[in-house]
Amino acid sequence: MGRTVRRAAVGLTAGALVLGFPVAVSAQAGEPAEATAETLQASTLRDAAASQGIFVGTAVNDGLLSNSTYSSIASDEFSSVTAENVMKWESIQPSQGNFNFAGGDRLVNFAQANDQQVWGHTLVWHSQLPSWVRDGGMSASQLRQVMNTHITTVMDHYEGDVAYWDVVNEAFNEDGTRRPSVFQTTLGDGYIAEAFRTADAADPNAKLCINDYNIEADNAKSDGMFNLVSSLLNQGVPIDCVGFQSHLILDQVPSTFRSNLERFTNLGLEVVITELDIRVSMPADSAELQRQSQQFASVTSTCLAVEGCVGVTVWGISDRDSWVPDVFPGEGAACLWDDNYQPKPAYTGMLTALGGEPGGGEPEPPTGCSVSYVVNRWNTGSVVEVRITTSTALNGWSVNFTLPAGTITNHWNAQITQSGTTVRAANAAHNANVAAGGSFGFGFQTNSGATYTTPTISLNGANCTTA
Ligand code: G3I
Repeated sequence: MGRTVRRAAVGLTAGALVLGFPVAVSAQAGEPAEATAETLQASTLRDAAASQGIFVGTAVNDGLLSNSTYSSIASDEFSSVTAENVMKWESIQPSQGNFNFAGGDRLVNFAQANDQQVWGHTLVWHSQLPSWVRDGGMSASQLRQVMNTHITTVMDHYEGDVAYWDVVNEAFNEDGTRRPSVFQTTLGDGYIAEAFRTADAADPNAKLCINDYNIEADNAKSDGMFNLVSSLLNQGVPIDCVGFQSHLILDQVPSTFRSNLERFTNLGLEVVITELDIRVSMPADSAELQRQSQQFASVTSTCLAVEGCVGVTVWGISDRDSWVPDVFPGEGAACLWDDNYQPKPAYTGMLTALGGEPGGGEPEPPTGCSVSYVVNRWNTGSVVEVRITTSTALNGWSVNFTLPAGTITNHWNAQITQSGTTVRAANAAHNANVAAGGSFGFGFQTNSGATYTTPTISLNGANCTTA
């Protein structure tokens, strides 16, 4: 059996957004233990996923973390992050004994600042493998030592920081036989069991996964995976999960996806959708984008329907950052946000499948609010602290205003998105509820020291007075 199976509840924090369905409340003797909360729907993927007990992740491109639009989406919408490239062997041990953790550390810091899980990708893989390993002509004993040293050193470094590891990636050919990687041809079939045993010794608390593509359907390749993990479990090899990459093509979501996942969970393993995208022949028309939305929703619903499917990770944020056009010329539009970081129908489809609603439904405007907007400027930057007092109790809030100069580079106590000069700040999980007569605050930093008058600020659609 797998080491443990549970549904994760990542991103559920005390005081998290209360959702519009029955929730347990502390009950007095004789009272029912349930009450219906009269509040907002979850308006982000991560809040909606948390309400379902699963995580929702994205692959993060290290080079884009400094783009505040990109990083705001990554932090506000996702409860799990996977390094798109920086934890791969060629990045992390480019030459023997020379470990470079800088990119992976940046991701871990980002995740910790945003209350996110880190998914480690990947330890043993034939691709993005430096030539000193791939073409090094090592003997079996040399390569075994090199593989085990790599696993141990990387997992030791990230022990406690990385929740799941793709220990072995893409070990199969399409017909279900083993891919002839340098590990397979030099070490033989046993390299996978050895990699998992080494990983378990390095970090006994991390969940250990094997990950592959084109195994979503019940087919020869997924049979190969099924036979392997069955055999590993029979041998007592420590393995927790199987990652189904799910690089899908529009209109080709496999009909056997759910039953295929279930044969793996029936073994006691967790299953995860690890790299979801759905590519379209370019240019994509609106009908195709609508079908894509339904298909993102369908994959998400499939995970929710399978006990033991603990999360869905999408492979990248916007279409412009996706790996797809580089590898499949003429195809693209595979992600949830478009080239301008605007949410696509696919975003709404996935959010809705998770039980959320864009905008969270319209919150009631308050009958009155006043705002203090304090700016501290220097030559090339400013820090703005906003505090709003509301005459009406709030269960979730959304604040809109214009930022005449600069780009927001950092923010706190709110989820903030900026589109041109338009800024929207929505409550963080911990400050959604404000009593009548109470106040709440949030802040942000910009890259401009330009002066401007205090903008008009609206709270849940109603303009506030300036204090
Ligand atoms: O780092 C070099 C840079 O120095 C150089 O200037 C540039 C020029 O092309 O290339 C950069 O390397 C690129 C690398 O990503 C880092 O950005 C490679 O060309 C590019 O091929 C590589 O692509 C990655 C691909 O894996 C490699 O196999 C994609 O970003 C990444 O999304 C993709 O992810 C894989 C998963 O790891 C495993 N499953 C399939 C998935 C999609 O292929």
